[in-house]
Amino acid sequence: MELARVTERAAVAASTLIGRGDEKAADQAAVDAMRRELNTLNIDGEVVIGEGERDEAPMLYIGEKVGTGKGPKVDIALDPLEGTTLTAKGMQNALAVVAMAEGGTLLNAPDVYMEKIAIGGGYPAGLIDLDADPADNVKALAKAKGVGVELVNVCILDRPRHAEIIAKVREAGARVTLISDGDIAGVIHCTDPATGIDMYLGTGGAPEGVLAAAGLRCTGGQMQGRLVTNDDGQKQRAAKMGIKDFNKKYEMNEMASGDVVLSVTGVTSGSMLSGIQQNGNEVWTDTLLMRSSTNTIRWIKARHATMDKFHLDE
Ligand code: FBP
Repeated sequence: MELARVTERAAVAASTLIGRGDEKAADQAAVDAMRRELNTLNIDGEVVIGEGERDEAPMLYIGEKVGTGKGPKVDIALDPLEGTTLTAKGMQNALAVVAMAEGGTLLNAPDVYMEKIAIGGGYPAGLIDLDADPADNVKALAKAKGVGVELVNVCILDRPRHAEIIAKVREAGARVTLISDGDIAGVIHCTDPATGIDMYLGTGGAPEGVLAAAGLRCTGGQMQGRLVTNDDGQKQRAAKMGIKDFNKKYEMNEMASGDVVLSVTGVTSGSMLSGIQQNGNEVWTDTLLMRSSTNTIRWIKARHATMDKFHLDE
């Protein structure tokens, strides 16, 4: 449950910079707050998905130790502010995200791109395939869902690199929902019928891919991902993290193989969560806390009596 406090703090800190046009400042505020809160937890944690790689010396870098060191050995995957541009522009679906798993069970992915495909729970295993034609994937999903292809809605990041996928999905007769940023939310949307999204397709950040896989482990669903390493530099970074096969197609359970807990707090409002709301000195947060061992999902709406206790100036 303490993990909820970690994303609450990061989200509140980032929320002070909503709409101010400064991605870096918003990210930094979230990072500082998340780091402070993580270091109060009685865990022997290591950041395996973080804000960057050690040589770039960011805070919450991959390999950084977090927690008091007095508890269980755990892997930490984090994105203190998923949607820095969404926050800076005051747009929907910016989130603070952290996952905690048994040590050694989360894929240590470098900060490169990842090709991804995901659907929600309740479908036969192996229904979709990253290497299949997008048309075949949407048709298979429509059949399994018992609806016409025209009722399948695929979420895709709005990027020129996705022009072909978008065209193929539309040619197959399905709908496309384009998002400007935030593909952790894009993937998790597949698990919630209220969002109207059935499938996520396309290439986004690898760290976001591992966090999304951790989320799907908790909610149920299917996902595959493949790292995109375009040059020797990226291959070397991947190799340093223990990746041997650069073209490996990872199943969800290989990206997040152990018991995992994921906490997500809304920074700006979106289809899953309300954003931070401040009323005088009172602050409201909205958090999804989920764990894979029980598939429990908790929606935690919290009223914090005073903004002062967030220590935003430390
Ligand atoms: P940031 O919060 O780091 O800006 O990431 C937002 C995001 O949209 C991710 O959700 C996504 O995985 C990635 O950026 C896509 O990268 P790009 O903007 O380079 O296409």
